[in-house]
Amino acid sequence: MARLLVCVSDYEKEARKLLPFNALSYYKSGAVDEVTLKENKDAMNRWYIRPRLLRDMSQRSTSTTILGHTVSAPIGVAPTAMQRMASTDGECANARAAARFGTVFTMSTYSTSSIEEVAQHAPSSLRFFQVHIYKDREVTAKQVRRAEAAGFSAVVLTVDAPIPGIRREDVRTKFTLPSHLKLANFLTNNMSSRMKTSAAGFDVFKDVKSLHDPSLNWGDVAWLKRLTKLPIVLKGILTAKDALLGLEAGAAAIWVSNHGARRVDGVPPTIEALPEIVKAVDGRCEVYVDGGFSSGTHIFTALALGAQMVFLGRPLLWGLTCEGEEGAYNILNILQQELDSTMVLSGCATVKDITRDMVIRKEYYSRL
Ligand SMILES: Cc1cc2nc3c(=O)[nH]c(=O)nc-3n(C[C@H](O)[C@H](O)[C@H](O)COP(=O)(O)O)c2cc1C
Repeated sequence: MARLLVCVSDYEKEARKLLPFNALSYYKSGAVDEVTLKENKDAMNRWYIRPRLLRDMSQRSTSTTILGHTVSAPIGVAPTAMQRMASTDGECANARAAARFGTVFTMSTYSTSSIEEVAQHAPSSLRFFQVHIYKDREVTAKQVRRAEAAGFSAVVLTVDAPIPGIRREDVRTKFTLPSHLKLANFLTNNMSSRMKTSAAGFDVFKDVKSLHDPSLNWGDVAWLKRLTKLPIVLKGILTAKDALLGLEAGAAAIWVSNHGARRVDGVPPTIEALPEIVKAVDGRCEVYVDGGFSSGTHIFTALALGAQMVFLGRPLLWGLTCEGEEGAYNILNILQQELDSTMVLSGCATVKDITRDMVIRKEYYSRL
């Protein structure tokens, strides 16, 4: 009998056996020496939970809201590119899983399914669309208009990617998108001819570099704000200063992220970057976080540190690889069950009960 997959790391181990070498390298790798990739995980264990006991836990819920929408747990799907390398219907399966679970699916601009396909497969779901501001602003504008027309509820602007990061694994494997797949959001008539004719075989370094705009600045956020009435989430913020500039620029939410450690190696793990941003923002907009989360205790810690929502990237890719839509759904359910268990055993009946004093740095105990 096949062994049951009961946690994120079970799915990861299995996915590592199943994925073609190039796809696995692309999904798992981080920038340069992968110091931040390791730190994203290690830093979770620098926090301890301080449970409160004998509080009536008979009525409880993990439910919360994001930008006014109710979700079944503070656990969301982060945008990851090229999900059809993991399962045949990639992003559509992932969006359906998120919809069944009752949470938000964030669609990558570099998806292998189109904006319209995803909307068709998960019509009643809560969907955010992740964009880049390209050198050719019309490419961005057209994608945003398509997302609006397809019923997406927010635009997530990735601000940490004016150029791609250096991932040595992908340089070694000369990673390109497998030729049977396409970057589905770039295939309409008006897109640049490079993207139209050779989106298959997309080179994550050369092509991203040619599309993305290193001149990007806060003025461009204002441009996006003028372009759409949808709320704008700024993804990739790591400092209080930038969080405050984001607030000034009218962001509805700040998404603390180091892009899954795929951009600058040596930046702080996100669980460490989170508290200063929560403090600076001081309740004036929502704050989300992603990077290295793989258990309910990690999610509990981020909520205690002030995040409203925790997003996951790779864990969903592992779920999709092992069991398609069912695997992505199982990952979300496993994390919710682990969060619920941590909440009950720590005396928190709702996510609002998870307060800052319920987590503490490890060093506290060595000072006693
Ligand atoms: C394979 C892969 C592709 C990604 N593609 C995108 C993308 O297209 N746009 C984006 O904003 N972030 C992208 N990210 C970053 C994720 O949105 C997210 O920040 C990160 O995966 C969170 O870390 P985790 O994978 O440890 O959960 C990608 C991450 C991975 C692993």
